[in-house]
Formats: sequence, structure tokens, C-alpha cells
Amino acid sequence: MMNTDSMTMRAAVVTRYGAPDVVVLRDVPRPAPGPRDLLIRVKATTVSSGDARVRARRVPEGMGLLMRLAMGWSGPRRSVLGTECAGVVEAVGAEVTRFRAGDAVIAFPGAAMGAHAAYVRVAEDGSVAPKPEALSWEEAAALLFGGTTALHYLRHEARVKPGERVLVLGASGAVGVAAVQIARREGAEVTAVCSAPNAALVASLGAARVIDYRAQDFTRAAERWDVVMDCVGETNYARSRRVLAPGGRLLRVVCGLAGLLAAPFQGRLSGHRVIAGVAIVRPDDVRDLVAMARAGTYRAVIDEALPLARVAAAHARVDSGHKRGSVVVTVEGS
Ligand SMILES: NC(=O)c1ccc[n+]([C@@H]2O[C@H](COP(=O)([O-])OP(=O)(O)OC[C@H]3O[C@@H](n4cnc5c(N)ncnc54)[C@H](OP(=O)(O)O)[C@@H]3O)[C@@H](O)[C@H]2O)c1
Repeated sequence: MMNTDSMTMRAAVVTRYGAPDVVVLRDVPRPAPGPRDLLIRVKATTVSSGDARVRARRVPEGMGLLMRLAMGWSGPRRSVLGTECAGVVEAVGAEVTRFRAGDAVIAFPGAAMGAHAAYVRVAEDGSVAPKPEALSWEEAAALLFGGTTALHYLRHEARVKPGERVLVLGASGAVGVAAVQIARREGAEVTAVCSAPNAALVASLGAARVIDYRAQDFTRAAERWDVVMDCVGETNYARSRRVLAPGGRLLRVVCGLAGLLAAPFQGRLSGHRVIAGVAIVRPDDVRDLVAMARAGTYRAVIDEALPLARVAAAHARVDSGHKRGSVVVTVEGS
């Protein structure tokens, strides 16, 4: 049952880093919207790979100290995780003009987190858009984590052009399923690298070719790609340069500290670029992803949906490293 006390709400709380069982359900203070904020009653959210990384303090090599300084030393400073959600506007601040109570919305609190709760606060001019009626709450909640990352890397950084060949390594994860669809939508010819059981899924999303990573190493392939997007952390420039076409870009979505520092200098002599770093979330991208979903050209892939009471099991599924798309958590009514 949802907590009916207007000052508090049910939330999944993480006070120390650790295994999925560190996530516990508690009553915590309900956020109050500022003058330009919306308070959203969360219907569904996801446990993303980002949430699981923060909970477990599991970061790419060399990032441990930076992460502790940024996120908190022994546990996350923002103890309610959750980067994305779909829900209903419960209340709006006095200066909000574009939304009102009762609106169905999709929101991306992103690094501010807080979506693993009955209510979350987002800024009106931030990453929030009206929810398309045709989408379920679960589908709506799972559009943005992978989608904003894919748009950042493919559109804003690599500037993928029609006719280019794009390889997506880790094509069946949340970022990968978005990257396949977005690269295809930008007019690219997509090669997806995933395991055989996920081949049909990525082909249905627009991949023209699928490489089974358990049977074949793409870095030994005869062909060349204009863009290689690594959503797993399995490659680096030295390994993949051979398969990059002239002008090729290696997108290291998962990258340790050494790779991050080296990226701006790598590949220059060969006419390549290496791009790494944290994806920037742009409110315009959020609106664009929702518009694509409304038009039926971009969709969420849901691995499974669990109630908030089973949020620790959702974290465990993400920790497996084998989810397909997103693990959704349904909140209202939990
Ligand atoms: N830079 C940024 O700003 C940013 C933003 C978002 C996410 N990320 C990072 O990006 C990574 C991907 O996120 P995600 O949410 O998509 O992860 P995810 O959903 O957990 O990825 C799981 C998928 O990866 C596949 N996979 C595992 N090993 C593979 C391999 N060697 N080759 C190909 N596929 C493999 C799995 O398929 P099988 O089950 O078939 O193995 C599974 O479907 C995470 O590490 C996340 O932290 C970075």
C-alpha cells in the first residue's frame, strides 16, 4: 500500500554501498516542489546499470576515488536512486505554466536521481515531457536512460550520417537497444554485436547484421565501420582501430580513467577519433525520444517488471550483466 501521510513516502533507500540486499524500503520525507518544479507521483521506474553501479560502487578501472568523492564515501549521498520514471503530476510550483496536476509525464531526473520512490521532483524546464497515451507506464519509464546516452554519443558526438556503417557492441542492453534504433533512424547501416539468443531482438530493432560475440571477435572481421560504439567496455582503440574506416569514431561508453584521459589524443594520426565520458542529458533529446516513441519509431525493450517491494531482486537482475533492455520497477500500488 502507498503511504497516505502527505509528509512522507515509500522509497527504496541505499545508505551504504554493497550487494542488492543493501536496498531497503523505508518511509522518507516527500520532496516539496519549488516554484518551477513538478512533483510527480511515480507509476514506474527502472533499475538502470547506472543505479546498480552506484549501489555496488562498481565503477570502471581507476574511477573509484573520483566516484567516492562525487557520490559519497561509504554510501551514496543521494540515498534514493533512480534516474528515469513515468508518472502523474501530483502538484506544480506557483510559476509552472506548461504542466498541471493530473498530467501523465515521462521524466529523467538523471544524476539527481530519486525516482525509486512514490514521488520525485523535477524542474519544469528540465527533462520532462508529456507521456504518449499509447505507451504503458512500464514502456514509458524505460525510454530515456539508454536513449539519452545513445543520442549523446551517436548524434552529438559521432554525428552519424546517412549511409554510414555503425557497429554497436552490447546491442541487447539498455543503451544498446536504443543505439541500434537511433543509429538506424539516423540512416546508418547497423551491425549489432550480442549473443545468439538476442539476435532476433536486435534485428527487429533495425540491425542489418548480427555478430554473436561468443562465436566471433568483431575486431578480426574483414569489414570496416565508420562508428564502433562499445556499450560493454570490451574494447579500446588499440584493439579496434583495425576495423575503423578512414574518419572512423570509436565511442567508449564504458571507459576507465586511463582511457578517458588518453581519448582526446588517440587516433589523430590515423584520422580516427576516440570519444569517451559521461553522456550529457539534453532536455531537447528527452522530448525528441518521446516524440519518436509517440510516432512509433523508437521503443523501450523491457527485460522484466517487478514491484517496488522486489527492488532488490531488480538490482540483482541488473548485476547479472545479462538483462535485455531495461529492468522496470512498478511503484504505485506497491
Ligand atoms: N558514459 C555514460 O554516460 C553512460 C551512460 C549510460 C550507461 N553507461 C554504461 O554503459 C554500459 C551499458 O549500459 P546498459 O544499461 O546497456 O547495460 P546492460 O543493459 O546491463 O547490458 C547488458 C547487456 O550486455 C550484453 N553483453 C554482455 N557482455 C557482452 C559482450 N562481451 N559483448 C556483447 N554484449 C554483451 C548482455 O548480453 P548477453 O546476456 O547476451 O551477454 C546484455 O544484454 C554500462 O556499463 C553503463 O554503466 C555509460
